[in-house]
Amino acid sequence: MTDSAARRDGAAAGAVEVSCATAPVRVWDALVRLAHWTLAATVAFDLVRDDGDRLHRIVGYVGAGAMVVRLLWALVARNHARLAELKPSLQGTRAYLRAGAPRHVGHDPLGLWMVWLIWALVLGLGVTGWISRLDAFWGEDWPIDIHAWMADALLACVLVHLLGVLGMSWHWRENLPASMLTGRKRGGDARR
Ligand code: HEM
Ligand code: HEM
Repeated sequence: MTDSAARRDGAAAGAVEVSCATAPVRVWDALVRLAHWTLAATVAFDLVRDDGDRLHRIVGYVGAGAMVVRLLWALVARNHARLAELKPSLQGTRAYLRAGAPRHVGHDPLGLWMVWLIWALVLGLGVTGWISRLDAFWGEDWPIDIHAWMADALLACVLVHLLGVLGMSWHWRENLPASMLTGRKRGGDARR
């Protein structure tokens, strides 16, 4: 083989390697995306329409339901949605931060804490909203006081979540909001 032919072959092999390494990978399946955008829309709606009327209550239960479906899905899913990918770890978070927050294809260890906090608050809002309407708690202020406090905490978490998504999009030079729409991310330097 001549030098130039060898160079051509080498370049072609390199091209194949590069295109395989950066080919898009499926990360968020349809159920994860549907549950995410349902949760986002219902939370945003209830934070604005906060008078506790029938519509507020129905929309709130739909959001909590979307979250429960997502968590049940984690029990059977085999992709990045599975429960094994949702286990937060202090040690993993420390190592991740020490390494300069390297790119993750699934949830990164730091963002995972916020995901669980948001889910816990949505569950708490569903429960406190429900018990505030029970006859047993008629005249009691504390269920709705806790509900209001959790709603404020959720608003703060959502703002941090959005800052996190934008910050990591910039840090990794990757459009994370688009990945939650299409379900795809680029392959390559993925950790998991
Ligand atoms: C994502 C879920 C939810 C969010 C973000 C949310 C948010 C809020 C907010 C911000 C308020 C106003 C609190 C205040 O007085 O300062 C409120 C009130 C209330 N919410 Fe929710 N909520 C959610 C789910 C629910 C659910 C599932 C119920 C079911 C019963 C519910 C029932 C109520 C009631 C009864 C009030 C009291 C209204 C009043 O008397 O002033 N909420 N909610
Ligand atoms: C009230 C609004 C929102 C709530 C409550 C919320 C909540 C969540 C939750 C619970 C997850 C975990 C998803 C899962 O594993 O099932 C998540 C992930 C994500 N959310 Fe949101 N979200 C909201 C708004 C948004 C918006 C407006 C965007 C886009 C600008 C966004 C972008 C993302 C992305 C990109 C991820 C995946 C993060 C990653 O790559 O690890 N979210 N969000």
